[in-house]
Amino acid sequence: MNFKEELKKYAKIMDAEIDKKVIRDDVIEKKLNKSVEYSLMAGGKRLRPILMIATYELFKNDYEKVFPFAISMEMIHNFSLIHDDLPAIDDDDFRHGKPTNHKEFGEATAILAGDMLLNKAYVLLGEELLKNNGDTNLKIRAFNELTHGVDRMIIGEYVDTEFEGQKISDDYLEYMHKNKTGALIKASIRIGAILAGASEEDLENLTQYGENIGLAFQIKDDILDIVGDEKVLGKPVGNDIQKHKSTFVTKYGLEEATNRLENVTKEAIEIINKYPNGEFLKELAIYIKDRKK
Ligand code: IPE
Ligand code: IPE
Ligand code: MG
Ligand code: MG
Ligand code: MG
Repeated sequence: MNFKEELKKYAKIMDAEIDKKVIRDDVIEKKLNKSVEYSLMAGGKRLRPILMIATYELFKNDYEKVFPFAISMEMIHNFSLIHDDLPAIDDDDFRHGKPTNHKEFGEATAILAGDMLLNKAYVLLGEELLKNNGDTNLKIRAFNELTHGVDRMIIGEYVDTEFEGQKISDDYLEYMHKNKTGALIKASIRIGAILAGASEEDLENLTQYGENIGLAFQIKDDILDIVGDEKVLGKPVGNDIQKHKSTFVTKYGLEEATNRLENVTKEAIEIINKYPNGEFLKELAIYIKDRKK
């Protein structure tokens, strides 16, 4: 199986696992559930769950063990997207080639759908911890990793909104990117490693890999906001400039941002090259750099 096929295989597996968590009952809150489903099943790349699985697979084969964490991470990621698009934050109308959640369901429902996704993630993990069917200590550590990742993501989103329209320093920009996007990506990788019982040395290496691809992911997102194809991307292009956002491109220009992207990707690859079975994670770093969506 080549990389693209393998990526698709994992995305399909995750789609099916996430779909099992969708509530389609005829209940009073069915519109809220529809709103949750609308975002959760909208065709996201499932990158964070895939990173979690692939990292776990560096050490172990039984990757179904990470599913509850992978599903929870994707729920939290979708919560972050719904709220990121809200009028009070980025005020965006399109995502995944469709109206954003609040455009489709109204702001109140969208806010609550985001809240619901965040809490559903914790409910799912609470149940997983109660099962006590594996290494509970590792699961608690992974849970702790996830909650702190969410904290950082929220801090990053805060910095993004608070300093919108202002010139920010290099440090602030990097801090914003590392948190708003890097934190959940890094946490996904660390959770995969933790659940697999990786050594502290491996965890440290993979953390470095995660920090680099996390930053790479947001730099590329900033680049795509300029040079992306709206139809492929499924979200508007040019919004960052229009909203006077500080991004790697608005601050340093396209060329410098592209150089930085190349460099952080190279650093990630150097780290993952230490792992003979790290080919997929290496390809993932290249994919993040070259992606069109
Ligand atoms: C988009 O993330 C938001 C950022 C963190 C930049 P993704 O591009 O991973 O979103 P989906 O789930 O694949 O749409
Ligand atoms: C969003 O960053 C990061 C999170 C949702 C946490 P952006 O605002 O740049 O993401 P897009 O471009 O709307 O997907
Ligand atoms: Mg934003
Ligand atoms: Mg946004
Ligand atoms: Mg963006």
